[in-house]
Amino acid sequence: MPRGLFITLEGLDGSGKTTQIKRLAAWMDKRNLQTVVTRQPGGTATGDRIRALLLDSGSAPLASMTEMALMFADRAQAIAEIIEPALAAGRIVLCDRFTDSTEAYQGGGRQLGSERVLELHRLICGDLQPDLTLLLLPSLEASLARARRRNEKHAAKTGQDENRFEQEQGEFFRRVWEKYREIARRDPGRVVVIEGNLSIDEVHEQIVEAVSERLVALHGAA
Ligand code: TMP
Repeated sequence: MPRGLFITLEGLDGSGKTTQIKRLAAWMDKRNLQTVVTRQPGGTATGDRIRALLLDSGSAPLASMTEMALMFADRAQAIAEIIEPALAAGRIVLCDRFTDSTEAYQGGGRQLGSERVLELHRLICGDLQPDLTLLLLPSLEASLARARRRNEKHAAKTGQDENRFEQEQGEFFRRVWEKYREIARRDPGRVVVIEGNLSIDEVHEQIVEAVSERLVALHGAA
């Protein structure tokens, strides 16, 4: 059984990842491609508890090292429970955020540096790398405005507060943004950057193009 394909979506809060992952999953479904969709933090029962700890503004202040360690604890569980079994069974895994998020947010935003994050990744995640990373980079201002609106709606609907990261200031997100760009420059074979303030359909088209190329490489047809 050939190994599946590991695809991650990355970007700032409010970059449109969640909408795009749903569209991509529907596109895969139509083609009868066996897909597993997950997100980080979360996705497993343990991960959902870690997510609540990480994102609830009631958890502030969390030491940056605690935050990073929890992100990796969540990831280790997701790899063991979801990602590795799915890839071994030949499935396509669509993951909303992976280690690039830790490098961008904790390495860049919290200024822990890339080296520490990459070292933990080697140690804890066995250096598992996505086959393709779709990095959505609309303008910083548009992302932040959208993230704020989304979280207010989410809190009103569910009573869950997932605002801890949105309380950060512009400088924090600027560092996250710059770290994402650095990752893309370092790894152009893996990371496809989709930038500018494009419509949902335009972003979807670019995603499908990048994914189709990888599928052709894997199966000989998209
Ligand atoms: P989400 O809104 O895309 O679900 O992401 C949850 C938040 O967690 C988002 O603000 C980014 C943050 N995050 C990190 O800081 N480091 C990480 O490693 C991951 C996976 C997410």
